Amino acid sequence: MEKRPIIALDFSSQEEIQTFLAQFPAEEKLFVKIGMELFYQEGPSIVHELTAAGHDVFLDLKLHDIPNTVKKAMKGLAKLGVRMTNVHAAGGIEMMAAAKEGLAEGTAAGKDVPDLIAVTQLTSTSEEQMHHDQLIQVPLKDSVVHYAKCAQEAGLDGVVCSALEVEMIHAATSDEFICLTPGIRPKGASVGDQKRVMDPQQAREIGSNYIVVGRPITQSETPYESYLQIKKEWNGEA
Ligand code: C5P
Repeated sequence: MEKRPIIALDFSSQEEIQTFLAQFPAEEKLFVKIGMELFYQEGPSIVHELTAAGHDVFLDLKLHDIPNTVKKAMKGLAKLGVRMTNVHAAGGIEMMAAAKEGLAEGTAAGKDVPDLIAVTQLTSTSEEQMHHDQLIQVPLKDSVVHYAKCAQEAGLDGVVCSALEVEMIHAATSDEFICLTPGIRPKGASVGDQKRVMDPQQAREIGSNYIVVGRPITQSETPYESYLQIKKEWNGEA
């Protein structure tokens, strides 16, 4: 089956999203990522609008609270009909398992339970910051792999990670355990503020299960063409 890159809809209003999506043919069903910035402004209506148009939504809200609160929040998010959402692995195995339970409880009969993935260490966290702020005294990559194994133990479907971490996470878990990777740039594109990037073909070769691409599509003068090109590279057809 053809794999779709997930488009990061990093816009600040529903109107901007409508203008952006109007540049795609209505029959092109997309997989899009909505983050906390937009969700906190626009609320659930933004998700309803996207799912009503036939798009799949990854709701990137990175929940982190006590298990009971996260479970109830996830029950509500499942009712929105999202395809994927996430939590912070630092919330612990019990919290992650509760999140998964909440999603299952909130999913309508006959529908698929959304995939639940965990953020390990934020890529904005340096090894020094992790040592100092979190008092975790192991190499950063060991912390990332440990959190991925905790997420697997909690019954989660995968993690968000840097493309450079995919191989070690798959080795520690399984090839089916989702490694969703942002920081993807088509060959020859501007890197922006991303420091360590891979192109879609490289991401496919190292076993990334999903890629997230924002600005190379959202800031393109021809977003649909850029999307199709990235989709081709991601499917090994370019
Ligand atoms: O525009 P760009 O392709 O860099 O957007 C990538 C998206 O993935 C953004 O929404 C960004 O916040 C998100 N992200 C990231 N790196 C992470 C986690 C999330 O770039 N480690």
